[in-house]
Amino acid sequence: MSLKTMKYKIAIFASGNGSNFEALAAACESGQINAEVVGMVCDQAGAYVIERAANHNVPTFVFSAKDYADKAAYEAAIVSWLREQGAELICLAGYMRIVGDTLLQAFPNRILNIHPALLPSFKGAHAIQDAFAFGVKVFGVTVHLIDNTIDGGTIIAQRAFEYHGNDINEVETKIHAIEHVLYPEAVNAILSCTL
Ligand code: GRF
Repeated sequence: MSLKTMKYKIAIFASGNGSNFEALAAACESGQINAEVVGMVCDQAGAYVIERAANHNVPTFVFSAKDYADKAAYEAAIVSWLREQGAELICLAGYMRIVGDTLLQAFPNRILNIHPALLPSFKGAHAIQDAFAFGVKVFGVTVHLIDNTIDGGTIIAQRAFEYHGNDINEVETKIHAIEHVLYPEAVNAILSCTL
């Protein structure tokens, strides 16, 4: 799509709470992002993000990996559903699975992720705890395009803050607040310059 009077179509992948789903959906609804959320993909049947999607009238594709032969099989099903929804950009938002070649090849340079640390430091699923345990004084958030490595790929946006206290809950609260601002900004940046 190239006529920018039309809205882009984005899909969001999540596995749990979905506060970043909420932030992106709200930014689309308010017009901050020139896009509509055409689908939410979730691999956990009981996840709260499913309720959030229903509240925003966003169609969902909820799957269980064990119902498929392998990653390629469930990703092929996801790709097929995303094509039906017309998705042009995928935003991973707490999706706790490694994306495989089937999805990467179907959406080359069109899959974003948000990570709660300043990459390339503190990759992996426990980034906030790892950074806190290491004793860093500058924390932050990264939005990046994904590639076939864990938390790898081109960095689109980062935001940092200093913290000298000793309360990890306070750090987490600050990180999530930044995420909810930075992710919509980064999606806007991507939509305005690459699609
Ligand atoms: C966020 O901290 C994000 O950076 C990480 O997973 C978390 C998801 O939180 N990838 P939520 O489900 O969006 O509330």
